[in-house]
Amino acid sequence: MMRRLGMELGENSYSIFIERGCLSGIGRYISENHRSCRRVAIITDDNVGGLYGRWLEEDISNQGIGKAVISVRPGEASKSLETLKEVYGKLSDMKLTREDLILTFGGGVVGDLGGFAAATYLRGIPYIQVPTTLLAQVDSSIGGKVAVDLPWGKNLVGSFYQPKAVFIDRELLKTLDRRHLHDGLAEVIKYGFIKDKALLQELEGCRDDDDLLRKIDSVIFRCCSIKKELVEKDEKDLGCRMLLNFGHTFGHAVEKYFGYEKYTHGEAVSIGMAHITRASEKMGITENGTAAYLEKLLGKFGLPIQPPEMDRAALEETMLLDKKSSGGSISLVLLRRAGDAFIEKIDQTEIGRFI
Ligand code: GLY
Repeated sequence: MMRRLGMELGENSYSIFIERGCLSGIGRYISENHRSCRRVAIITDDNVGGLYGRWLEEDISNQGIGKAVISVRPGEASKSLETLKEVYGKLSDMKLTREDLILTFGGGVVGDLGGFAAATYLRGIPYIQVPTTLLAQVDSSIGGKVAVDLPWGKNLVGSFYQPKAVFIDRELLKTLDRRHLHDGLAEVIKYGFIKDKALLQELEGCRDDDDLLRKIDSVIFRCCSIKKELVEKDEKDLGCRMLLNFGHTFGHAVEKYFGYEKYTHGEAVSIGMAHITRASEKMGITENGTAAYLEKLLGKFGLPIQPPEMDRAALEETMLLDKKSSGGSISLVLLRRAGDAFIEKIDQTEIGRFI
């Protein structure tokens, strides 16, 4: 069954296609919707490119469109200015123009890096997101946040640059290892806790990962629908879109503290959501039992819920460098109860109370 969501953002509107097998419709989509496109730069990573790259390349070539593949090393280390420079070099070598197209084909790292290259090369090249991990399918590929990391923190150089379309094909999840499937589930659980209690009940009812995968299209659709609603209301992340950052302020700091190696993004967000909810429940902000429910669901999918030993001062410093911090205050996302979140602006000096 084909599900389509329209992201309505005026002249930056686009479709999100959620359909099993839709990967093989991309070439035709490009030739029908981007008639002046002569070349496509496929930005991918060595794992995804090796598994599915040829298939996508053929699909594009079959339409008589030229293509080149730019493959980066898998992992967060590639979301760097150094890798970005290599990408710019390859885009220049292939003489890509603003009539052409970039296609990001991979997880969050590839989508963020490739999307930022698209936003900035020649002051903007149209691009299509084809996310291949659950995390990218439910979150990072939609909404136009693109970025690279700096040594000082995650996503510190970036832009809001909306794709022209997003293709979500659950067939690509078949080769995703369990750890990375669960990584994406942390974001799914996040959506449930901020806005959709019924989604949590659906996850509770899943017998195992295979059962979950059978229902994954509807789970992805629900997550993307929530994100669509928030992005349409607040594209530039100044208000309600910040709800999507539940668990992320602490999570980003944990990721960075361990050099992006010990925890995946979803695992760090899982620790962040559990940690802040335990704190807010103790303060009487969050309904009793919410933290235990959150921990139960995260634990069911093998996600970590306790922070490891960390130096508190270093952690606080990283949290304050986060983009959610501004003018002496920081916006934290807290739960009233499961399915109901709000944004609390606190003074930076108060952050210690929540960690
Ligand atoms: N990943 C959070 C957002 O797109 O706003």
